[in-house]
Amino acid sequence: MMMSSSSMAGAGSSELIYRGHDGAPQPLADESATAAGSYSSSAKPPPHGTNKAPLLRYVMGEQRLLFALLGMALASLVFLLAPSASSSSSSSVAHLAAVGLAARQYGGRSSGGAVSSRVAFEAEPRRGILHPGGAGRVPLGLKRKGLRVVVTGGAGFVGSHLVDRLLARGDSVIVVDNLFTGRKENVLHHAGNPNFEMIRHDVVEPILLEVDQIYHLACPASPVHYKHNPVKTIKTNVVGTLNMLGLAKRVGARFLLTSTSEVYGDPLQHPQVETYWGNVNPIGVRSCYDEGKRTAETLTMDYHRGANLEVRIARIFNTYGPRMCIDDGRVVSNFVAQALRKEPLTVYGDGKQTRSFQYVSDLVEGLMKLMEGEHVGPFNLGNPGEFTMLELAKVVQDTIDPNARIEFRPNTADDPHKRKPDISRAKDLLGWEPKISLKKGLPLMVQDFRNRIFGDQKDANANTGDN
Ligand SMILES: NC(=O)c1ccc[n+]([C@@H]2O[C@H](COP(=O)([O-])OP(=O)(O)OC[C@H]3O[C@@H](n4cnc5c(N)ncnc54)[C@H](O)[C@@H]3O)[C@@H](O)[C@H]2O)c1
Repeated sequence: MMMSSSSMAGAGSSELIYRGHDGAPQPLADESATAAGSYSSSAKPPPHGTNKAPLLRYVMGEQRLLFALLGMALASLVFLLAPSASSSSSSSVAHLAAVGLAARQYGGRSSGGAVSSRVAFEAEPRRGILHPGGAGRVPLGLKRKGLRVVVTGGAGFVGSHLVDRLLARGDSVIVVDNLFTGRKENVLHHAGNPNFEMIRHDVVEPILLEVDQIYHLACPASPVHYKHNPVKTIKTNVVGTLNMLGLAKRVGARFLLTSTSEVYGDPLQHPQVETYWGNVNPIGVRSCYDEGKRTAETLTMDYHRGANLEVRIARIFNTYGPRMCIDDGRVVSNFVAQALRKEPLTVYGDGKQTRSFQYVSDLVEGLMKLMEGEHVGPFNLGNPGEFTMLELAKVVQDTIDPNARIEFRPNTADDPHKRKPDISRAKDLLGWEPKISLKKGLPLMVQDFRNRIFGDQKDANANTGDN
């Protein structure tokens, strides 16, 4: 099933293009077919080979052959004298026509017209740098000025911080998001920026865009959200990832997958190194996410090995910060929202299970270093500082309300006991490590939650700690 989906997506993306490409000559082919049809119905074609002699006589007569050869030589001379102008414009026009046609064909299903006009508008400035099917082969250093980057899930928590950073360094960013858990407000401050676009689109459907890099984040990340519709979650991870890999292959873009520490399941090895294969329940209530991400990693590596695609894989550990969904069931957002609302902090199980918490700007830094670097990964991106749930509750009490009560509840199924990244690989190969401690990062998040919970939106996007 996996293979057929894979090949479908691959075929789908190329089919989009080639149908578009074939689209122009098709009427001619139809006409000639009709003409041939009418010819054969009105007169029988001459037997094979009988017309060769008169044809040869015609070609040789009146120095026709000489004139034809002269014409060809002249055309070659003109072509050689103006190589760059003719080749680049014709190839880019042909490419734009193909892309435009493909986008129009695709348009009925989703963001249609917007896609084709954006493609036509954006492909032009890259002429000479982006070659259809080969952009990923151009060294990244040459493309530094104004990369075109897609961030799927860019209206979500992590994605919106990544978008901030990419725009700040001068890239053009297209956010592709169905707003399942993301919010327009997370990227609203970029409205009016000519380098920013947002497309409301579900990655489970294919999309055609001309870009240099794809950060693929689209997927609900909190248990509350991904368990809400598990089939949709696994479709997003499998079909959505296939679609984005197909797009990367088609346009030669570099592709980064945001995987998760959940691929380690309830780990039997501590801390977790990237070489550890994990301990995951394939049929549990979290499997739609855990196994979905594991499959997404598999697909990413198969495209890398099989299609020579430039890929990067990040395994993200618990991350917190401003713009997290309030009440999404993730422990940091839960505790912060509860303490602000003067509700008891709910601790599941005995509260001795551990997690590590990374501030979002550290993660974004790691993702960008990974994308720009030369290593495929997977890389653990997380903060190795390890806290029990009770210790985290204490930090929240210290930061927000020392009198906040703690309430114990039965633990949820398949909740891992320990989670702590070994980040030696990221340190060595990416030169990355987190800088912001929980005590420093938490107040930045609390400020944002306070604004959103109590309706003071004045500074909602001001203090994200990213700058
Ligand atoms: N935040 C963390 O602690 C953490 C940990 C591990 C992995 N990750 C990964 O990082 C990525 C981002 O996580 P986040 O915390 O920002 O989550 P989030 O829920 O805030 O963001 C996910 C975004 O993806 C969008 N999305 C979901 N399904 C989609 C679909 N089918 N088509 C298009 N858009 C879709 C959502 O609307 C949202 O904007 C996810 O892939 C997640 O698995 C996050």
